[in-house]
Amino acid sequence: MDARTYEQEALAAIEDASTAGELDDARIRYLGRKSELRLALREVRERETGMELNRVRLAIEAAFEAKEEVLRGAADARALEETIDITLPGDRAPRGHLHPITQIRREVEDAFLGLGYHVRYDREIETAEYNFDKLEFPPWHPARSPRATFFLNGDVVLRTETSPSQIHEMEEHEPPMYMVSIGRCYRRDTIDATHYPIFHQFEGLAIDRGITLADLKGTLLHVMRMLFGEDRAVRFRTHYFPFTEPSIEPDVSCGICGGKGCRTCRNSGWLEMGGAGMVDPAVLRNCGIDPEEWSGFAFGCGLERVAQLRHNIPDIRVLWENDLRVLRQF
Ligand code: PHE
Repeated sequence: MDARTYEQEALAAIEDASTAGELDDARIRYLGRKSELRLALREVRERETGMELNRVRLAIEAAFEAKEEVLRGAADARALEETIDITLPGDRAPRGHLHPITQIRREVEDAFLGLGYHVRYDREIETAEYNFDKLEFPPWHPARSPRATFFLNGDVVLRTETSPSQIHEMEEHEPPMYMVSIGRCYRRDTIDATHYPIFHQFEGLAIDRGITLADLKGTLLHVMRMLFGEDRAVRFRTHYFPFTEPSIEPDVSCGICGGKGCRTCRNSGWLEMGGAGMVDPAVLRNCGIDPEEWSGFAFGCGLERVAQLRHNIPDIRVLWENDLRVLRQF
């Protein structure tokens, strides 16, 4: 065996190895127990040859160690590269936002807080006494039917409107009072583009000395302009509610056609915004308030309706389906 040739072959093999596996193969071949070098070392007789073979062995061992170091460093660098690239921007944490109904509800609260009203939230489960009797619903009124209203048991109902808040407010406070009550209401309506058995209303009540329909109109005009824009107008149509006298339905001018008439306002130029009126003296008396001294107005309006008009939502069902493709748009 020629020691120099052996050394060169071994160093070349080490040089060529590009993985830990290839390097191991080369180590077994050139330094292993059955390698030519070991066999030669075992049989060596003269000092000269022995020294030369040992020099070759040390040189090859050193080359292995150096190459091992290089390969390990490369593997570490590759592993690091695969897991962390510190030059990339971080993952953005998904961020939610408020449901359109909640957004509108907060706007309504702001509008009334600005007028000096206080906001209240009431129970959604009511007694027939508060949902109907104290609001002067006659015994034969169709809303008292279990076909229109969800009865839980006996006289307990899911409130059909926020109007029971008027009674609670008047029983709990002395006039003057200015309040707005916001929350969910329930009716056994068939689901369609404009009806859903759960919906939201905001209900206003103002009781003071000398309150008139003109105050109601001014208040609704202010709120409608805050919700829909400064160019809006408000008009009243006569109507009937058991707990207001006179009763009216307020309309706001259509913002899509500017009052000229279009599909949304069914060519009338006006959009219905709910119910309102002067609090019936009988209701005031039910709550211990003297109608000779105090008068007031009340109004109720659906939040879904406001959301539909604000965002041009053709079908309110999407407000309940929690489809992010829809909700992300608001
Ligand atoms: N509660 C009535 C409804 O839901 C609206 C209304 C509220 C009417 C207050 C008059 C006064 O239809």
